[in-house]
Amino acid sequence: MLFGATSDASPHPEIEILVNPRLDRLQSYPFQKLTTLLEGTPPKAGVTPIPLYIGEPKHPTPEFIKRVLTENLAGFASYPATVGTPELREAIAGWIQRRYGVKHIDPVTQVIPVNGSREALFAIAQAVVDTTRTLHPIVVCPNPFYQIYEGAAILANAAPAYLNNVSQRDYKFDWDSLPRMLWERVQLVYVCSPGNPTGHVMPMEEWKRLFELSDEYGFVIASDECYSEIYFDEENPPLGSLEAAQKLGRDGFPRLIAFSSLSKRSNVPGMRSGFVAGDAAILKQYLLYRTYQGCAMSPPIQAASIAAWADEAHVVENRRLYREKFDTALEILKPVLDVEKPDAAFYLWARTPMADPEFTRRLHQSQAVTVLPGSYLGREAHGINPGDRRVRIALVASTEECAEAARRIRDFASELKKR
Ligand SMILES: Cc1ncc(COP(=O)(O)O)c(C=O)c1O
Repeated sequence: MLFGATSDASPHPEIEILVNPRLDRLQSYPFQKLTTLLEGTPPKAGVTPIPLYIGEPKHPTPEFIKRVLTENLAGFASYPATVGTPELREAIAGWIQRRYGVKHIDPVTQVIPVNGSREALFAIAQAVVDTTRTLHPIVVCPNPFYQIYEGAAILANAAPAYLNNVSQRDYKFDWDSLPRMLWERVQLVYVCSPGNPTGHVMPMEEWKRLFELSDEYGFVIASDECYSEIYFDEENPPLGSLEAAQKLGRDGFPRLIAFSSLSKRSNVPGMRSGFVAGDAAILKQYLLYRTYQGCAMSPPIQAASIAAWADEAHVVENRRLYREKFDTALEILKPVLDVEKPDAAFYLWARTPMADPEFTRRLHQSQAVTVLPGSYLGREAHGINPGDRRVRIALVASTEECAEAARRIRDFASELKKR
């Protein structure tokens, strides 16, 4: 058969295809589950669909970022280094210093640009997990959570352990719900602050306990902060992990890696640009891993990223738009739905009066508004799926569309109440 030609029938059916058996343990992605849920239930005709299920920013990309990108197209002519240009690492280190008041961050050893935080969050588990230290390593994930953590753990040959983030505890981790004998096997802990989907921002006390546990058991902390710039009070930005570490006197950020991104901050999800920063010893090995993985950032994207990290005006405006949308949507929804303003990020994590997939399906069918069932983002752990009877509503569309979606959800929820 010609290279590139495809056929369902293997030319050698007697030969078993070699694939990593752990791939079979990956769950289908929440959006895939949503597609299956909505199959055969199209929204009623004549109503414009409003998709609010995906966390893809829809505000326009700032013109200056596009301009810098196109001015640097000549960069395509050379291979980029995995570690990024010194200029980009300095721009990122400068941003970290300004944003978090972090005094000492070395752009050479404590910062690496990455192609969006997603690939980096996945790769960290592959670089960190050590099956020679313990036969059955554990990777801790929040619950509900961004699904990459779980897949990364499984493919690194570790078992995910889920710690529930529930409203009764203000979405804070219950670190002590994991028994000591399991903590001893933990090698990596993912946290997400501001959280997706809950919007919870980890306060200092939560960080303090996590750092204590890391000191005791030696695990690495992967702190996903890709929503750090979407918040409501200009005077009160979310506490970051590097900032918390510095305030607690943890010089050199031992066993801590922060993951950040331009995707939501600067409305460039397609640009694939972010960074990791923290413990230099871990980053050194992580860089080695990344060199082999081959995920260097394209030079024009590096140039555009430098411009983006250096500018805050567009980020302030971005926040204004989100604030407007939250105020509008919450005013419409609160009378009919159990929903609160989150600490930060751009999601509403609303309670549903019936099973969340059923709510989602019926809302989609009757109002052409698509949200994501909360249970798809969670796993059954400690006796519950903390996403049950919740939906995630991403306020990513324009203010007008979000307001229209909120009105349709209100009509749908009021109709349910009448029955
Ligand atoms: C919690 C969380 N982490 C990371 C990402 C990845 O973002 P990016 O790869 O665009 O930086 C997302 C994207 O939606 C997310 O929700």
